Amino acid sequence: MQPILSVILFSAFFWISSADDDKYYTNIYDNIDLDEILNNQRLYKNYIDCITNKGKCSPDGKELKKNIPDALSNNCSKCTQKQKDGTDKVLKFIIEEKPDDWKLLESIYDPQGAYKKKYKEQAEKRGYKLA
Ligand SMILES: *[C@@H]1O[C@H](CO)[C@@H](O)[C@H](O)[C@H]1NC(C)=O
Repeated sequence: MQPILSVILFSAFFWISSADDDKYYTNIYDNIDLDEILNNQRLYKNYIDCITNKGKCSPDGKELKKNIPDALSNNCSKCTQKQKDGTDKVLKFIIEEKPDDWKLLESIYDPQGAYKKKYKEQAEKRGYKLA
């Protein structure tokens, strides 16, 4: 490739990937098919093992794990709308279908139950219970 072209491409890429870095979490994984993950035991387990520190993380699992404490503390205020909707779907699924995983997640990310309290009402409005 022409050197000048690669510089331009690289700069463009860097600019895009760093834009709004503070305002929103990366949206490069927004096209992940959540239903596919939730309906696939092996894929689902990979993510859960990652965020519960039981196994290796894929790049997007790593990104997710990194952002969970922050998103919890600020009500997902850096989530894109798509990420908010996805979060609801995933939480509902885990709470209703995988209660053991949910317990484990709570013990890791909300040991005092503070977030449960904070988001209880909001969750009910969105159709699930933070049991
Ligand atoms: C979190 O943000 C949503 C808007 O996305 C808002 O409706 C809700 O009241 C907020 N909840 C808390 C606990 O701050």
